[in-house]
Amino acid sequence: MKSEQGQLPKHVAIIMDGNGRWAKKRLLPRSAGHRAGLKRMISLSEHIFRRGIPYVTLYALSAENLNRPQEELDALFSLFREYFTQNAETLRKKGIRLNVIGDTALLPADVTEMIAAGIEKTAEGKAGVLTLAIGYGSRQEIVSAVNEAVRAGKPVTAEEFSLLLGTGGMPDPDLLIRTGRELRLSNFLLWQSAYTELYFTDKLFPDFKNADADKAIRSYLLRERRYGSVGKND
Ligand code: IPE
Ligand code: IPE
Ligand code: MG
Repeated sequence: MKSEQGQLPKHVAIIMDGNGRWAKKRLLPRSAGHRAGLKRMISLSEHIFRRGIPYVTLYALSAENLNRPQEELDALFSLFREYFTQNAETLRKKGIRLNVIGDTALLPADVTEMIAAGIEKTAEGKAGVLTLAIGYGSRQEIVSAVNEAVRAGKPVTAEEFSLLLGTGGMPDPDLLIRTGRELRLSNFLLWQSAYTELYFTDKLFPDFKNADADKAIRSYLLRERRYGSVGKND
């Protein structure tokens, strides 16, 4: 699991925050911010894969976000419909496998079906894995893994436990980026980010350009990951 300094991250995770504030600044409805965010998300994820990073995980909707006003949720569900119907073929051609973590049963049934169809269509992809966290909560994911372990009736190791999570089989994120100024994880990948390098930026997600992702990756490349041991220069 040890990664050398100067080595590209294998897995980049992004908390895509700030769409609402981006819209508000422009006197637009929040839905316009989400639309701008979706456009940015498509270009940004392609960019990161082009950089040679095989795992990209994007926090699109938290379980807690499902308590937002219905009007905003309806706008988000429509964007998900658009995304999964229009982009699955592009992803398939690029060899990107689509993956979704979170409780999709909390979404409207047609959205759940479109997600399943997108996952099926891209299932053979070998070039990269794009994971969208939708209706996702890290504590909920951990609790459901604990319950699964309990049902199996024998103690598990940390490695075995990781496999019971929605992210099971993926490497932990090396770099986690949060846009939109807040300095918190908001129930995202709490177990998986035990040794993840964190990068926070004030840029609101629709303003977070591909070059800004490069800047975050450059910052990552300069970091020394010690995993609790003594540093090279200490
Ligand atoms: C992030 O943007 C996207 C979702 C949570 C769906 P927000 O909608 O949280 O935007 P802000 O934080 O209100 O600006
Ligand atoms: C986190 O953003 C969830 C996503 C970006 C999908 P929130 O806007 O929901 O986070 P809080 O409420 O500021 O912690
Ligand atoms: Mg927010």
